[in-house]
Parts: sequence; structure tokens; C-alpha cells
Amino acid sequence: MNTAQFIPSAFNFSIEKATYTWQTPSNIALIKYWGKSDPQIPKNASISFTLQNCHTITSIDFVKKNTASEITFELFFEGIKKESFKPKIAQFFDRIKEYCPYIFEYNMVINSENSFPHSSGIASSASGLSAIAMCLLNLEKELNPSLSSAFINQKASLLARLGSGSASRSIEGPLVVWGNHPEIKGSSDLFGVQFPYKVHVVFENYQDAILLVDKGEKQVSSTVGHNLMHKHPYAEQRFAQANENLTKLSEILQNGDVDAFINIVESEALTLHAMMLTSNPYFILMKPNTLEIINKIWKFREETKSKICFTLDAGANVHVLYPENEKEKVNHFIQEILANYCQKKQYIFDTVGFGAKKVVNYRHKNH
Ligand code: DP6
Repeated sequence: MNTAQFIPSAFNFSIEKATYTWQTPSNIALIKYWGKSDPQIPKNASISFTLQNCHTITSIDFVKKNTASEITFELFFEGIKKESFKPKIAQFFDRIKEYCPYIFEYNMVINSENSFPHSSGIASSASGLSAIAMCLLNLEKELNPSLSSAFINQKASLLARLGSGSASRSIEGPLVVWGNHPEIKGSSDLFGVQFPYKVHVVFENYQDAILLVDKGEKQVSSTVGHNLMHKHPYAEQRFAQANENLTKLSEILQNGDVDAFINIVESEALTLHAMMLTSNPYFILMKPNTLEIINKIWKFREETKSKICFTLDAGANVHVLYPENEKEKVNHFIQEILANYCQKKQYIFDTVGFGAKKVVNYRHKNH
């Protein structure tokens, strides 16, 4: 795999002090990434919808230092200094230092906030790490103005991937594939790419309502879950199935067959959780209300002929997916029925989005 192209050579420009702010989204996988090898290489290709309302806004202040022997940074989350978040970010910087040697030369002050409530069970690593990656690439672009925007997106996705695999899919939108796949032109294990084919109009502005079933800390982290795929009896079958499902979903996204979409997306969600149930040690991330919601969705679909469906991430929350033309009807169903199965009746209406955005003149909370 050719990663050398992402290692910069000496820069012609020098920058003493700069601040960049980026807004990057969360994403929800339709074909799931579950299983990886070093360094953050997925065992199968995955595809996700990029979200719009669930995002992180991060600024980094870069100030040039006299010595460049170690990586130094401070971290503020929602205006408060967060020592507890530092190890994860320090590990991220350590993993990417080969690709961004310039981070040794600056003291970095990171200010970050999420549009969604922290510890809502919505993974903030995808949006959080992709936002840092975009700020770094912004600095790199100033140091080397010849970088193309295609290269910037690729490299930002590569960096984000090294922090958290699914973060590689949070730079662009509305559909991003990560992982080498024979039928997806340009796809790579190193970075996410925009789904390269024309998508049927029914999948434009697709809706995603995130039902917050359980906001507690997950009992088993994604990292542990991925690791359990190493000795999993069904692992190889699962990786092959995911790649086959992506072949089918690629066709479906182009031809607009929503019933086939529902079948693959729901099967992927349940298969992901089946892998957890059949890991050793085994674990369950769904809650009773996750199942209540799934059954209610199936009943509603049966009774109303709606094209509503669900997917799950590595937790108890349910993502409800539906076409834009059903927005009124389904939002009403969520408010009246499904909200009763959410913690404190909380849910977030979101829509498919278009990826990272530069923000100018942003003032962070309490800053
Ligand atoms: C179930 O990207 O959180 O959401 O690479 O260890 O950080 P790490 O894992 P992470 O795994 C996400 C798994 C998933 C499926 C998906 O998003 O494809």
C-alpha cells in the first residue's frame, strides 16, 4: 500500500501562528465495519451515510515553539479543560506523526464542542477526530499551497482513520465507502472515498432519526469488540458477506430499490449484533427498548406500507432511516410512539449531509 505520498517533504513556507476551525459530521454505517488489522486496516469494506445535524466544531490554535522534540497540546471540550480526553488524542497524534511531522513544531490548543449531547451514546470519535484532521490539513495547505482539495480530503480521511476507523468516513458525503472493494472505483483501505456512482433520487436527503435508548457508557468498547473478531468462528464468513452486501447495495443505491435497501440495511445491523452475541467473551449492547422499537418499526411498516427501516451502531440506540417524502408521517410516528421507548423521550432528527466545512470567526462556548 502506498502511504509514502502522504508524508510531506520540507515546506517552502513558514507559519508562526494560526487558528483554523472546522465542522465535521458523524456518520451512520449501512454496511458495517467490524474487524480490523494493524494499522487500522478494515477486514471488509463499509459504506455510510454522512449526517448533517450531528457534528463537532473544533478549532486548533497553532503557535510555533522553540524546540520540536515532543508533541504538546492542550484540550478544551465545551469550554472546559479536559485532561481525561487527552490520552486518546495523544495516541492519535502519535499514530499520525509520521504523516504530520510539523505537529512537533507547534503548541496546539484544541477547542471542541458537539452539536449533540455528550455521552448520548452517539459516537463522537468520528466527528471529533475528523475535525482535528481537517484543522491539521488546513495548516499543511498553508505550508504547502499546491495541495489539491482531493489530496486534502484523502489525507484527512487517512489521518482520521488512524484515530478511529469509522472517522475516515466523516470527511465527505453523502455516501462514503471505506475499504478496498473490487466494484467501488477508487476505494481504498487507507481512506474513505465518496460513493463514485450516481445515486437514485429516492436516496437524496434521506432522513435519519436517532433514538437515544441508552445514554450510559457502553459495557464493551468498539476497540474490544473489533479485537474479538480475531478468533471469532464466523469472522471470515462475515467479512465475505459484508463485501457481497456492498456489491448489492451499490446496485440498489443506483436503481432505487428501497425494499432491497431495507433488507440489506436491517440485516447488516442485526448481523453486527449477532457477531457480538457470538464473540467469546460474548456481550449484548442492545437493550429491551431497542427490541421494542424494532418491533414497532416492523409493525408500522406492515400496516402503513412505509419504507421506514432501522440500523444500529455499536450500542443500544436505534437509527431510523426513511425517504424524505415520508418525513411528516414518520416524524409523527416517532414523536407519538417511538419516543416513549427513549431515555427521557430523547431523539434527534437528522438528514444526510455533505461532510467537512470550514468555519470562520467562530467563538467557542465559554471561550
Ligand atoms: C459498529 O470506528 O468506533 O460503528 O476503529 O476501533 O475506533 P475503532 O472503531 P470504530 O468502530 C465502528 C463500528 C461500527 C460500525 C461502523 O461504523 O462501520
